[in-house]
Amino acid sequence: MRVLVAGATGVVGHPLVGALRARGHEVSALVRDASRAPEADRVVVADALDREAVLSAVSAARPEVVVHQLTALRLLRDDPPEAFAQTARLRTEGTAHLVEAARAAGARRLVAQSIAFAAAPQGPPVLDEDAPLYVDAPDPGWAATVRAVAELERLVAGSGLAGMVLRYGTLYGPGTGYARDGGTALRVLAGKLPLPEGGAGITSFLQVDDAVQAAVAAVESEATGCLHVTDDDPAPAAQWLPHYARTLGAPPPRTLPAALAPRLLGWFMTHQLTTARGAANDRARTALGWKPAHPSWRDGLGRE
Ligand SMILES: NC(=O)c1ccc[n+]([C@@H]2O[C@H](COP(=O)([O-])OP(=O)(O)OC[C@H]3O[C@@H](n4cnc5c(N)ncnc54)[C@H](OP(=O)(O)O)[C@@H]3O)[C@@H](O)[C@H]2O)c1
Repeated sequence: MRVLVAGATGVVGHPLVGALRARGHEVSALVRDASRAPEADRVVVADALDREAVLSAVSAARPEVVVHQLTALRLLRDDPPEAFAQTARLRTEGTAHLVEAARAAGARRLVAQSIAFAAAPQGPPVLDEDAPLYVDAPDPGWAATVRAVAELERLVAGSGLAGMVLRYGTLYGPGTGYARDGGTALRVLAGKLPLPEGGAGITSFLQVDDAVQAAVAAVESEATGCLHVTDDDPAPAAQWLPHYARTLGAPPPRTLPAALAPRLLGWFMTHQLTTARGAANDRARTALGWKPAHPSWRDGLGRE
C-alpha cells in the first residue's frame, strides 16, 4: 500500500517508516526538514500547521493510508508549556489539515496517535476505551491537553475516512523521556521525583517498538474506532517508580506527604502518581491481532 507517515522523524514515526517498508509498503515520509528524514520511498516536506503546505505534500504522495504521529512532546524537557501548547495545535489544526489533505488526495484510511492516560479518574483502577476523558480536569493546562485529544479523536471519527485512533500508553525505550538519558530518568537519578504517600496512581506503559508494531497492524487492518495500545501490566506508582529507580541505579524515591505533592511535583505529575487510571488493551488485541512483545514494563523500563 502507499502509506504516508506524518511525524516521520519522531520516536515512533522514524522506526515506523522502516517497519512499514519491511512489510512491503511504499512509504512517504512527511517531515519539516528533509535533511533529517528517515530512508523512505519518498520524502515530502511540510509544516503540519501550514494548511497549503500539507495539502500539497500529501497530494504529491497520493497515499492510500495516512498515519499521524505528530506531537511536540520532545520539547517537554526544555519548555513544557510550549510542548503542550504546540502539541494541542498539532492535535487540532494539524489533524484537521491532515484529514482535509488525505481526503483530497483520495486516501481511504487514517491512523492517528493519541494517549491512553487522558481518562477522568473515576471507576475501577484500569479503564476501557469507553471511560470519559478528563476534559474538565481542575488543572487548566491538562484540561486543554485533554480537550485537544478529544478534538483529534472527534476529527478522525468524523473524517469520512476509515479512521483509527491509537491511544498509546506512556512510552518508554530509546528516545523517550524514560530512556536512561531522558528527562524523567535524569529527574529520578537526581532524586527529584519523590513518591507521594500511597502512590496509588496507575500507569499503563508501552515500549516504543510495540507502539510501532501496533501502528503497522492498524495500517493493515480495516478496523475503525479508538484503541488503547498499552502493555499488559498497568501498575501503581508505588510499584513502578521504586523499580525504575533501582534499575537506573538511582536512590530510592523518598516519600512525600500527599498534601505537599501538588506544590512540589505540579498538578499533572501528582495526578499521575496518585489518582490516574490504567488503560486495558483487550480491544486492541482483538481488533488488530496485535499484542505487546514487551508485556510488562518490569523487564525493560530504565534498561535502555
Ligand atoms: N504517548 C506518550 O507516552 C507520551 C507522553 C508524554 C511524553 N511523551 C514523549 O514524547 C515523545 C513521544 O514520541 P512521539 O513520536 O510522539 O513524538 P516525537 O518523537 O517528538 O515526534 C513527533 C514528530 O512530530 C513532528 N512534528 C512536530 N511538530 C511538527 C510540525 N509543526 N510539522 C510537522 N511535523 C512536526 C516532529 O518533527 P521534527 O523532527 O521536525 O520536530 C516528529 O517527527 C517521547 O519523547 C516521549 O517520551 C510521550
